Amino acid sequence: MASLLIVDDDQSIQTQMKWSLGGDYSVELAGDRPGAVAAAAGSGAAVILLDLGLPPRPDEPEEGIAAMRELLEANPHRKIIVITGQGEKGNALRAVAEGAYDFLNKPIDMDELKIILKRAFHLVRLEAEYRELQGKLAADGFEGMLGTSPQMQAVFTAVRKVALADAPVLILGESGTGKEMVAQAIHRRSRRQAGPFAAINCSAIPENLLESELFGHEKGAFTGAHAQRPGRMEAAAGGTLFLDEIGEVPLALQVKLLRFLQEKSIQRVGGRRPIEIDARVLAATNVDLKQAMAAERFREDLYYRLAVVTVSLPPLRERTGDIPVLAKVILRRFALENNRKLSGFNAEALRVMSAYAWPGNVREMENRIRRAAIMAEGRHVTPEDLELDPAAVGLKITTLKEAREKVEREAIRRAMARHRNNLSRAAEELDVSRPTLYELMDKLGIRRE
Ligand SMILES: Nc1ncnc2c1ncn2[C@@H]1O[C@H](COP(=O)(O)OP(=O)(O)OP(=O)(O)O)[C@@H](O)[C@H]1O
Ligand SMILES: [Mg+2]
Repeated sequence: MASLLIVDDDQSIQTQMKWSLGGDYSVELAGDRPGAVAAAAGSGAAVILLDLGLPPRPDEPEEGIAAMRELLEANPHRKIIVITGQGEKGNALRAVAEGAYDFLNKPIDMDELKIILKRAFHLVRLEAEYRELQGKLAADGFEGMLGTSPQMQAVFTAVRKVALADAPVLILGESGTGKEMVAQAIHRRSRRQAGPFAAINCSAIPENLLESELFGHEKGAFTGAHAQRPGRMEAAAGGTLFLDEIGEVPLALQVKLLRFLQEKSIQRVGGRRPIEIDARVLAATNVDLKQAMAAERFREDLYYRLAVVTVSLPPLRERTGDIPVLAKVILRRFALENNRKLSGFNAEALRVMSAYAWPGNVREMENRIRRAAIMAEGRHVTPEDLELDPAAVGLKITTLKEAREKVEREAIRRAMARHRNNLSRAAEELDVSRPTLYELMDKLGIRRE
């Protein structure tokens, strides 16, 4: 039987509830906040019925709200149904804004309560199944890449398709978004998988050495060329050549790259004999090549040769849905490496990570979590461990006005969801007129779907 926790300081209500719900649920009782937190930790009750008026101040909602916060902090997936006295709609709405699943007014209509409970337990089960499925999907990932967001799923689909062709692919994305991972995935899924994957970072090599690094050189081609040396292109023969940071290649060398793409053959520096090379070319860049072309720093003909197909990686801040999964898996890896027992992130850290802009994308996330895995004092990683400041990402509420707006926004959002965006019904529930609600939504920037 599913376990249900009832938190109420009124003995008679406790008895009555246990009597009428005991047939369907294994009912547990608590009379105050500490009792509720302890009972919930013990039984893992997924649904909790909570009277907001708890001792030591049974006439005010504060203790009940505090209990709710603690219960949700310990397990954000549980559903809390709040019970309030007559004429306390404001408190009920506040509770909902802070995360309560639903509310009921006293005196309690048992039939109504039973329906709400049934729905809550149903939702808990559905959500758990969904999370499990997501977890499986996320843990599997795609060629080592994580991401369940539609944007990343689209990237995976594109990689699957382009891998099978032999055309060049241009991989675009901000730094740290996974361009190199995509290049490797394309190679591993291509018919050249058994061949070499030769990568060269065009921005890491000084301009004067880049040509010989790429094309190789003959003995005596220049001072210091004591022996003949094949370049990265020859190393890629039969496989894939990955030109990373292609936007940094100097114009003179761009011409030679273009010739290679057209003729499938190269000449070493100081060499006269053409060497045929069968390699597929993948290129990546985080600079805007269109802009580089406009500034005549990148050749248009080379661009069109390389960009037969493009794969664009979305920045992390545009797929916030991927953040918790990525963070979790990355933390698990570094915790293991550093032999640290870390159970995860605290709620605030998760919020801050979702609001942060991540200019360095996944690489930056790895760096921050690597540090946190070493520095964290508690079992849960905090924003400080990540060196992320909640105030800097606009999460700290500083004025009463902001606090009020936040609560209002939440209450309206939930009422609208509950009434399937029916403005009149939502207004009725919130006890305001329809035009007032309309105006409020405008002011708070809530979109009407
Ligand atoms: N979707 C992802 N899932 C898991 N790890 C990822 C993902 N995307 C990137 N990473 C990790 O983030 C780091 C950066 O990825 P990668 O080097 O492929 O990015 P990049 O776009 O080439 O970055 P840069 O522009 O800095 O060269 C790597 O350690 C990689 O393992
Ligand atoms: Mg890279």
